[in-house]
Amino acid sequence: MKDLDLAKISADDWDELNDPRPAESDFDRVVEEAISRRGFIGGVVAFGSGAAAMGTGTLLSTTSAEAMGHSRFAFSPIGIATDSTIHVPEGYSWSVVARWGDALTSDAEAFDPTNGHSAANASKVFGENTDGMWLYNIDGHEVIAVNNEYANRRTNLPYDGDAAGTPQSLDDVRLFQGIQGVTVFEVAAGDSGQYKIVVDSPFNRRIDHNTPMEITGPAAGHDLMKTATDPNGTMSLGTMNNCGSGPTPWGTYLTCEENFNGYFGSTDENVQRTAGMQRYGVGIEGWGYDYHKWDERFDISKNPNEPNRAGWVVEIDPSDPNSTPKKRTGLGRAKHENAAVTIAPSGHIVVYMGDDERGEYLYKYVSNGTYAPGKDTDNLLNDGTLFAAKFHWDGTGDWLPLTSESTGMDEVEILIHTRMAASAVGATTMDRPEWVQVNPIAAEGYAALTNNKNRGIKPNAGGDDTSVNGPNPREANNFGQVVRWYPANDDHATSSFRWDLFVMAGNPATQEGAYRGSSNVNEGNMFNSPDGLMFDSAGLVWIQTDGNDGNEGDFEGQGNNQMLAGDPVSGEIRRFLTGPNGSEVTGLCWSTDRKTMFVGIQHPGGSFPDGEGLPRSSIIAVWRDDGGLVG
Ligand code: FEO
Ligand code: CA
Ligand code: CA
Repeated sequence: MKDLDLAKISADDWDELNDPRPAESDFDRVVEEAISRRGFIGGVVAFGSGAAAMGTGTLLSTTSAEAMGHSRFAFSPIGIATDSTIHVPEGYSWSVVARWGDALTSDAEAFDPTNGHSAANASKVFGENTDGMWLYNIDGHEVIAVNNEYANRRTNLPYDGDAAGTPQSLDDVRLFQGIQGVTVFEVAAGDSGQYKIVVDSPFNRRIDHNTPMEITGPAAGHDLMKTATDPNGTMSLGTMNNCGSGPTPWGTYLTCEENFNGYFGSTDENVQRTAGMQRYGVGIEGWGYDYHKWDERFDISKNPNEPNRAGWVVEIDPSDPNSTPKKRTGLGRAKHENAAVTIAPSGHIVVYMGDDERGEYLYKYVSNGTYAPGKDTDNLLNDGTLFAAKFHWDGTGDWLPLTSESTGMDEVEILIHTRMAASAVGATTMDRPEWVQVNPIAAEGYAALTNNKNRGIKPNAGGDDTSVNGPNPREANNFGQVVRWYPANDDHATSSFRWDLFVMAGNPATQEGAYRGSSNVNEGNMFNSPDGLMFDSAGLVWIQTDGNDGNEGDFEGQGNNQMLAGDPVSGEIRRFLTGPNGSEVTGLCWSTDRKTMFVGIQHPGGSFPDGEGLPRSSIIAVWRDDGGLVG
């Protein structure tokens, strides 16, 4: 794949480039069905037999929030932006905390604004493409664990000419491998009052594509996990494409491996790809990282099981820089977005997870063991049951267990080939499940369904029908939505739920019908492609976007990617922050005193944040000028 324009292709289009999917044969039927079931006109939800079909929590409108006479937002909403900096509401300020290439240790090379840094320096500096994160207070030290999702190839390898972004040596590959993964680092406000990296803190750590990981849980030692260099199938190297994340109640960090397939390729173009490789998009060419040409581990003609060792949720202990990260195979293998952990009333651990690909599924894990403070937690994510979500049109839903009985698959293969297991039980194909969160003050789960241009047009990679369905009601869905569910008995461990849509993004200025968005979307707060979700301690849900920021066509009037806050009770949504053009806003956590919020700015365009030289993914701090709480 030598065409260098491919360095700019979106992650979501790579798989289809490598594996073109057949067009749906009965397109007319699909469209007919979509239209007859879609009643989302003028912002009023009326599916099938009427609004009641959506369950009791039908969409609330902005006007109903106003009618309630109060607002829970401590800020005035801001307008869109199309420039190359950050905007926050009046009375708030921001500063940069950490940029790609910033020193974690005092022996790091200084960052070169034109050439970046060397492969050897990667272990000493903040990684690239900041994504999910969480802040831990460890004996009074504020330590952030943050994902470094992927490489911006042309930015990270800024050679002149046609070679830009294409590795020319193993050293170039080592640079890519070294700037991705996870950064754990201490922050402190210091004399300036603005949070910065604590250089040389003993907590500072890089975990990259070559860091040893322990494979734990049912798939450890399975034949599909064994390789020439790890004949036991219990230790792998690296965590790959770390997208979203989630904290556990016991103080660890779950980092989630998403588009791992893109790192693999084959030096033998005639290699026969297994059904598993095809379902997960592991191809011959890879996505341009070219690891397979320089590092045999990523060559599927030589190491066909290596891709099976990625696509997991990985547990990291940020309090111990010498700890070995653990791949938790009990949580299944997918293009994991994030992991939302909650404790059921019974003490069982529930983990919600999305698989971010068009037409893939929403998952839940329920542990067999129970949690209690101080009790050993090492097996809680290894021993349990996986479920996939089935949504019904009538506003109800079921979690379908993925067992040998329900899937016809071997118990361990269910975990390694989780997508096939979910297909086997007939789970609901979703519009790319991104972040999932649990409301800390109400028994509700939320999932961002970012967009799906294939909805009603093409099947998913497993050939499953993707006609419109309840929570994914618009064909060729460019805008995305946030689905919400209410577990039976207010217990996340139960197997049934009611659901509604918290918001359907859209464009009321340029679109018709359902594409205008739900009634809590207006010309003042509109956005597309909800991705990051995070609840603050007051129960507001923060929505971060990763969408089209061209500000034209369908997306005219929506500006750069942004962060908004939503009130789950009133449905009101307000825009809080706009990112620099070209960037995605992703990752959100708070200081211990909740007076500072940390926000991730991934792959900015221009020269953010320095105003010259290479653009640098960054974590920024946002605070209230009056010193009030921000979450
Ligand atoms: Fe890495 Fe689905 O976002
Ligand atoms: Ca994301
Ligand atoms: Ca996204």
